[in-house]
Amino acid sequence: MQSKQFDEVVVEVKHVSKHYKIAGREDSVKALNDIHLAGDSELLPIRRGEFVMLRGPSGGGKTSLLNLLGTIDRATEGVIELFSNPINVDSTDEYLAKLRLEKIGFVFQTFNLLATMSAFENVELPMIILGKLNEKERKKRAIELLTLVGLQDRLDHLPSELSGGEQQRVTIARALSNAPEILLLDEPTGDLDTKNTVEVMDLLLDLNLKLKTTCIMVTHNPDIECYADRILYIADGVFEKQVFNTEQTRLDYDEYIAYLNSQAGH
Ligand SMILES: Nc1ncnc2c1ncn2[C@@H]1O[C@H](COP(=O)(O)OP(=O)(O)O)[C@@H](O)[C@H]1O
Ligand SMILES: [Mg+2]
Repeated sequence: MQSKQFDEVVVEVKHVSKHYKIAGREDSVKALNDIHLAGDSELLPIRRGEFVMLRGPSGGGKTSLLNLLGTIDRATEGVIELFSNPINVDSTDEYLAKLRLEKIGFVFQTFNLLATMSAFENVELPMIILGKLNEKERKKRAIELLTLVGLQDRLDHLPSELSGGEQQRVTIARALSNAPEILLLDEPTGDLDTKNTVEVMDLLLDLNLKLKTTCIMVTHNPDIECYADRILYIADGVFEKQVFNTEQTRLDYDEYIAYLNSQAGH
C-alpha cells in the first residue's frame, strides 16, 4: 500500500497559450490555448512527488507544454509558476538557464547522449557545468547514479556500446545528476521494446517513490498509465480531462506480453 501525500505545489499553469509564428505567414499555429492547472481550477496544479502523465493525439500540444514547463520555450500568453517563481515573457535567459540546470531534469525519446563520452562522463557532465561539486564528489555521485539505474558494470561504455534501454537509463541518471526537483520526460519509452519499456517504467516509479522527484511524462502508450498518479489528456491545445489513479501499479512483464499477444490475435 502506498500512502503518497501531496502538499507542496511545484508547478502551476495559469491561462497559458502558445502560438507559433510561421515565417512568411500571417496566421500562427495555436498549439496551446488557455491551459490552466491551478488551485482555483478543477484541474489541479502539480504537487511535489506527483507522477503525472500527459496523453493525447499527436499534434495535441504535449511537447509544447513540456517545453514550456522546462523553460526551453516561452508562452505566448499566461504564466507558468515553478516553485512559486513566475516564468513569463520578462524572464531573462540567464534566470531560466539557472533554473533549468538546478531544478529540472530532461529525458527525451531519442537518448541524446554525447557519442564520444562514456556513460560515466555523460552523467558527470551536468555536474561539471553546475560547478557545485568537486571532482571527487562528482565521480562518487556519477557512480552512485549509474548504480541506481543498474549500470554499475557499464561505466566506461560508450553510448554505441549500450542497448537502447541501457542508453535511456544513462540519460535518466544524467537527468538526475544535479538532483532536480522535476523530471520532464517526452516519450521516454517511445523507442524501446516492451521489455525495456517495462524496465524503464519500473525504474522511473522507483525513483519517483524513493527520491520523491516529481515526474511529468508525455507518452503515447496507454498501457503504462498505471504507473502514474494522474493522467492529463490534452487535444487541440486544451485539456480534455484528468484521471487519478488511487494507487500506482507496475506492469507484470509476462502478463503484459500475454495480453499484447491476445490483442494481436495470437
Ligand atoms: N516549432 C514549431 N513551429 C510551428 N509549429 C509547431 C512547432 N512545434 C509544434 N508546432 C505545432 O504545434 C502543434 C502541437 O505540437 P506538439 O506540441 O509537438 O504536439 P504533440 O507533442 O502533442 O504531438 C502541432 O500542430 C505542431 O505542428
Ligand atoms: Mg510530442
